[in-house]
Amino acid sequence: MRRLNVPLGNRSYDVVIGRGIVAGLVSLLPAAAQRVAIITQDGIPAEIVLPGLDVTTFVIDRGEGAKTLHTIETLVRGFADMGLTRNDVVIGVGGGMVTDVAGFAASSWHRGTPVVHVPTSLLGMVDAAIGGKTGVNLPEGKNLVGAYWQPTGVLCDFDFLDTLPLREMRCGMGEMAKYHFLTGDNLLEMDLEERVARCIEIKAEIVASDERESGQRALLNYGHTFAHALEIATGHELAHGEAVAIGLVYAAELGHNLGRIDVDRVQEHRNVVAGEYDLMTSPPSGLDVDELMALMHRDKKALGSGLTFVLDGPSGIEVVSGVDEEPVRRAMETMLR
Ligand code: GLY
Repeated sequence: MRRLNVPLGNRSYDVVIGRGIVAGLVSLLPAAAQRVAIITQDGIPAEIVLPGLDVTTFVIDRGEGAKTLHTIETLVRGFADMGLTRNDVVIGVGGGMVTDVAGFAASSWHRGTPVVHVPTSLLGMVDAAIGGKTGVNLPEGKNLVGAYWQPTGVLCDFDFLDTLPLREMRCGMGEMAKYHFLTGDNLLEMDLEERVARCIEIKAEIVASDERESGQRALLNYGHTFAHALEIATGHELAHGEAVAIGLVYAAELGHNLGRIDVDRVQEHRNVVAGEYDLMTSPPSGLDVDELMALMHRDKKALGSGLTFVLDGPSGIEVVSGVDEEPVRRAMETMLR
């Protein structure tokens, strides 16, 4: 078992990683907690046993369609029924959707109740459960309503990955490919557990330097502007990590259109995403450029006029605001061709 730390002053917390460690979850819970609200989904393989605590389990529906304010209302009314206090604890057990929802429900219950995450997917371990971003979708866009609410601990048991469906493993690999471009680290030469640990370290360092995304943290959105539009335009048939993989290649094409990177660097993006990480680089057919443009305009990273992207360039990956529509459209046409 290893402990990594997310250093955030009095909101610092440990991310405990290892195999067969879920039985030690109780050590991450606040000492004063008497009641525990576990939020999970059907089919999640984690068995959580917490002797001596009053545990209520809430099973939420699967899929982005259930990541709604309605789900939050159902949960917090359940918290009211069970008498959950702010000295108690919420535990999110599942993939990124579960920990985002559990975190948001905890953030708003009594204006902030501790939450502990037990991510059971690769994507959850390397990204969603770390860093305190919580929230739900609106019909108008992904994760538009939410809060920063840091967990008091995160437990990543690699045993969960043994039975994770291949498609979900791929989604985690999409976020890992992002870390590859952000750091240049050759994550694939590490074994899976070492790789997950490294991704958590990278994310912890970025979050520690910019918890509320006023600068550096926005880099974690590399590939995400197009990815979020793709997820919505495909009715979430494309899962988040799959869309991020395509979004990384899109960001490279756009960076090239803006004269920020050369064709070799675009090709490197394609090689890493498709060749090394074995992920899709083209969106499904039948998507409409105008619809994707409209969705990207609505992206919550958009600040002021023009579109905002995270793009590669001569000084590395950075936030670029006020991007004109023409190169954005042209990159999209290249991707949809
Ligand atoms: N998933 C991006 C972030 O946590 O900032």
